[in-house]
Amino acid sequence: MRFKGAVLTLLALITSSILAACGSTPTAVPTAAPTAAATAATPAATTAATTAAAPAATTAATTAAATAAATTDAAPANSTLAVGIVLPTKDEPRWIQDETRFREALTAAGYQVEILFSQGDSAKEKANVEALLTKGIKVLIICPQDGTAAAAAADEARKAGVKVISYDRLIRETDAVDYYVTFDSLAVGANQAQYLVDNAKGTGNPLYLYAGAASDNNAFLFFEGAWKVLQPKIADGTFVIKNSKEADALKAKAELTREEQVKIIGQVTTDWKFDVAKKHADGDLTNATAADKGTVFILAPNDGTARAIADTFAADKDVKTYYVTGQDAEKASVQYIIDGKQSMTVFKDVRVEVKDAIEAAVSMLEGKTPTSTSKYNNGKIDVPATQSPVISVDKANVKAALIDSNYYQASDFTGL
Ligand code: GAL
Repeated sequence: MRFKGAVLTLLALITSSILAACGSTPTAVPTAAPTAAATAATPAATTAATTAAAPAATTAATTAAATAAATTDAAPANSTLAVGIVLPTKDEPRWIQDETRFREALTAAGYQVEILFSQGDSAKEKANVEALLTKGIKVLIICPQDGTAAAAAADEARKAGVKVISYDRLIRETDAVDYYVTFDSLAVGANQAQYLVDNAKGTGNPLYLYAGAASDNNAFLFFEGAWKVLQPKIADGTFVIKNSKEADALKAKAELTREEQVKIIGQVTTDWKFDVAKKHADGDLTNATAADKGTVFILAPNDGTARAIADTFAADKDVKTYYVTGQDAEKASVQYIIDGKQSMTVFKDVRVEVKDAIEAAVSMLEGKTPTSTSKYNNGKIDVPATQSPVISVDKANVKAALIDSNYYQASDFTGL
């Protein structure tokens, strides 16, 4: 198997290998769209209309109970760190999945793994990168908290002769990014939107829009993918936007400029945080009339924010039924889907992304150029990239997609 081969190669290449992962910090807004046409929007699975009957529930207990800034498995003495990994934060459960999968992939054969998190702090992210550079890494795998702020860290790595792999989120506004490993982010948004479209009947359906962090380039791609599917259905009256004047003002436009996206995302951002998402939802429901409620459709950008928003809508007596999207197939949201409290999620098989990142790193360690299937413009250059597909998951296919694929164990959930 290629992946196994890659891991073995990594072993052979590195006397004692260690992985380090770190975090990041947020800043400005960027605009990176995949250059390649390879980003066809995948239609969401047309599955049973999951009517999230909405019992109010305690908002998403973050899987990431851990808020430790760094998790370090002691490295063997005299070891040489060939690859350094930096992840954004433990406060967003998604990154715990990546940490787990990196550990699995690299320690299975008895590797020592060092994983560091930047906890949403760009200064800490940069310090983490510098620490890795000091240890002599040859390849840096970094998922930036803030795509633009991370450019400085990438520049430093480049100066030290270290290859930079942007992991999941694109580092913007620098030419010091050698490769980008990602999922098809436009398809993520398209799947979310398609789910809402598939479940809407008639016209005038209330639509509530929420987005990720403006410092994360992915938030733009997700929104762009969703808008492409939703906009014609807003224009034809199927949906009526209830919580964003900026989006409503642009409803006739099939394609939005980056600046227009900035305006909308600025208004409906959750910053990827549960509490911000809840606050927004609370405010939106307060501003809405009973006629704006009833059966509602909610574009929530990921699972953590989806659970917070779902709980808030569920607690409103005038909300009778809600459809809410998500992303990441976090365990807590998988349980919500089984329980009928979240309608869908978009499954991103982190095992694949981790494998792609390791293969690219190995290829670089061997002095080769990793194969790329697309390019993403980061505001400065077209970054060669590989992107993997995503899967729309709701109650109807949750078992097939997540249990039968061995991503999770059936025993992780109740009521399956
Ligand atoms: C995105 C990532 C998503 C989700 C989100 C919040 O950049 O692609 O999978 O995790 O951040 O952390």
